[in-house]
Amino acid sequence: MENIPTTRRRRIRTWIPGSEPTQLKELRNALPSSPLIDLSSNDYLGLSRHPHLAYAAQQAISSEGVGAGGSRLVTGSRPIHLKLEESLANWLGREHALIFPSGFQANLAAVMALANRKTTVITDRLIHHSLLVGVRASGAKLQRYAHNNLLDLESLLKKQQKNLSRESPLVITESLFSMEGTSPPLLQMSKLCEKYGARLLVDEAHALGVMGPQGRGLCYGIDGPIAIISGTFGKAFGSGGAFLSCDKKLNDELLQHSGAFRYTTALAPPLTAAAYAALNLIQKNPQWGIQLKDKSKQWRIELTKAGWDTPAGDGPILSIIIGEDQKTLNLQSQLEESGLLCVAIRPPTVPEGTARLRVTLHKDLPEEAMKKLINTLGDR
Ligand SMILES: Cc1ncc(COP(=O)(O)O)c(C=O)c1O
Repeated sequence: MENIPTTRRRRIRTWIPGSEPTQLKELRNALPSSPLIDLSSNDYLGLSRHPHLAYAAQQAISSEGVGAGGSRLVTGSRPIHLKLEESLANWLGREHALIFPSGFQANLAAVMALANRKTTVITDRLIHHSLLVGVRASGAKLQRYAHNNLLDLESLLKKQQKNLSRESPLVITESLFSMEGTSPPLLQMSKLCEKYGARLLVDEAHALGVMGPQGRGLCYGIDGPIAIISGTFGKAFGSGGAFLSCDKKLNDELLQHSGAFRYTTALAPPLTAAAYAALNLIQKNPQWGIQLKDKSKQWRIELTKAGWDTPAGDGPILSIIIGEDQKTLNLQSQLEESGLLCVAIRPPTVPEGTARLRVTLHKDLPEEAMKKLINTLGDR
């Protein structure tokens, strides 16, 4: 069995923090500093600009290089990859974690590890595109249930029970839906999967770091049929890259057989180091998730008071459904004039006729942001 070798490259100081080359300084001065308040990025905890992350990334560049220079199984692994994998697995209470260069790739790898032509994959109708690409690539049969509807899911699982020639079904969901802001009842869902002998793959991309106990995600504490959890460092972790967390057997299988893991350059050391710094910060600040949840509640209340439908869910993604594409784009422009960056999300990213303003809340939003949003949207 192949193990991950780690290499420590010769220490080359390419950039001493504080002495950036003049071209970089000029470039930085040429960039307009955005006067807009961010209500659209997934940087929920504002960690992408946190000094601890910046410092960790700089140190990693100095000691390990900008890029990994190879795949994990050849020359790309560094001690920081292994440290991050071990810490993530401990934090999530799972046996292992394996880092991927992106969440898209991790999802592709996860589905391909759990499904093949003999599998029926049953997914929520609104899962992320990367998961659907994985289902297609696996050759599995795809069935979809209405968004977060466990009755619909159960009726599909029941039908599968009669089909003895097929492997145990795979159910796929997100724990916090990126465009809806909603979450499925994961505990009930996992019990349902247990009842019908199905395995569960949960994409925690938007929940990790901000939702669940101490930000450990909405799967935390639920075991049983959850075969793989997928997470990304590109959102609350303020960095880039992603990981899959599962038991040792599946982890070994991914390591040995996943093309999306083996045949790609390892996650760049500065991004890995920044993700590790983010994990440490999240662990030391369990109040962040609670504060964000309180803020999310407050914003939902204020929007409701202004006559808007209460955005679904209880996390930091507030989906304000407008309907028509042009109307949504007009509102985006008006919000921009008021100093808010709130990008219109339109089909095909969301279903036809449900164009929306997807408001994402961040830990350090200025007080005036909510008033500005409500004043600009006007009463409904
Ligand atoms: C639910 C979900 N899963 C996976 C991904 C992909 O993650 P990454 O940006 O790390 O490729 C995204 C990001 O768009 C996402 O929203």
